[in-house]
Amino acid sequence: MAKTKTAYFCNNCGFESTKWLGKCTSCGEWNTFTEEIISTSKKTKNTTSGTTSTRAKPLSISQIESSDELRFSSGISELNRVLGGGIVPGAVVLIGGEPGIGKSTLALQLALKLKNSTTLYVSGEESRKQIKLRAQRVDDENDNCLILCETSVENILIQMQNATPDIVVIDSIQTLHTERVESSPGSITQIRESTNLLLRYAKESNVPVFLIGHINKEGSIAGPKILEHIVDTVLQFEGDRNHLYRILRATKNRFGSTSELGIFEMRSDGLREVSNPSELLLANRAETLSGVSISASIEGVRPFMIEVQALVSSAAYGTPQRSSTGFDLRRLNMLLAVLEKRAGFRLGAKDVFLNIAGGIRVDDPATDLSIICSVLSSDQDIEISSEVCFAGEVGLSGEIRPVSRVEQRIREAEKLGFTQIYISKYNKKGLSTTKAKIKISFVAKVEEVFQELFG
Ligand code: TYD
Ligand code: MG
Repeated sequence: MAKTKTAYFCNNCGFESTKWLGKCTSCGEWNTFTEEIISTSKKTKNTTSGTTSTRAKPLSISQIESSDELRFSSGISELNRVLGGGIVPGAVVLIGGEPGIGKSTLALQLALKLKNSTTLYVSGEESRKQIKLRAQRVDDENDNCLILCETSVENILIQMQNATPDIVVIDSIQTLHTERVESSPGSITQIRESTNLLLRYAKESNVPVFLIGHINKEGSIAGPKILEHIVDTVLQFEGDRNHLYRILRATKNRFGSTSELGIFEMRSDGLREVSNPSELLLANRAETLSGVSISASIEGVRPFMIEVQALVSSAAYGTPQRSSTGFDLRRLNMLLAVLEKRAGFRLGAKDVFLNIAGGIRVDDPATDLSIICSVLSSDQDIEISSEVCFAGEVGLSGEIRPVSRVEQRIREAEKLGFTQIYISKYNKKGLSTTKAKIKISFVAKVEEVFQELFG
């Protein structure tokens, strides 16, 4: 009788060990090892690998044939943008995200959008009826979209060979299981093995495969982390569940840059593309209020006009509160310290609340200038004109530092009707301002900005 062979795997990074370990020697995480069966019966292994394997021979680069138009459009321009210009045949794309963020909706919309190609949507999570309901909700019909509710990889591979789809979507990789390994669905060996089988299918048939992967905080089942090494592209779908905006960003892309962003809005009839995010983010500004300023930011490579809101009030009880939504709290504390020390504002005994409107998160250091202006506007209770915007990084000595892609920011501000933009004096060099209709104010120190704004 064959003895079952087991090994221990780290849930975080997929490291394999013969013994249980308290701390993973590969990624350093504690308590992440679980035991999994790894013995495979020879019979099943041969039937799946024997038919598909072909012997590869080395070729020189010039011998390899290339075709000009490699990519094709997904029908969703925001997705094309993140993928680097469209779908690459034979690519395996992993879409990760928290539960309920809209991964299945995006995947189904993709399958339904490609009207002229056969698409195969494989779901291991929902029944056909549920998928039909969702399709009715997003109000899209496509007779070339085939729905398969299946979790066995072997069966899926057979169906794919029969249906010869042009694109395959799998929702989700964690629900799949293959006969080749004996551990339960969702375990690391199952995920790795299933992905490898699908990867081989994609490479051999040149059909792109989209995989949906769950993220889980506890790490009790393997998250998409270990998959990231296997697949070609990793897309992260993120956003605040209480807000409408969803951001799709590439964290790994073998066929394009990872600095592009795709922006969607979750509506009652599915995801809608947002091609001009600034207009949406600034749409509901009726009157000027104190504590509000606009930052000309860049996320990825796209300019965004972001509304920064601050509220400063006297701390009612003891220790003042500092709270920040959508911006790093430590960076806010640093900016407040700069204001206190370099510009002489007494904020130490005040509560400061900061919010980036629209539920988005900003990492762009150019937001600094807008943040300190909002804080002071609220503190002084003087409003900042809604036609003014800011782009500058603030250094520890209160100097306004230059930011990247300043022309792009100025152009976006101009396009949206702003009449004045504050940028760093050090951005002046090489900047052609002759054509600009917008007034560009160059500043070197935070005091100069306050002098101009609040007199
Ligand atoms: P879903 O795609 O099921 O998320 P995931 O697969 O990432 O878990 O989307 C779930 C949320 O999206 C759900 O809370 C409801 C919302 N939703 C809409 O607001 N409008 C719609 O048209 C659809 C289909 C979903
Ligand atoms: Mg889902």
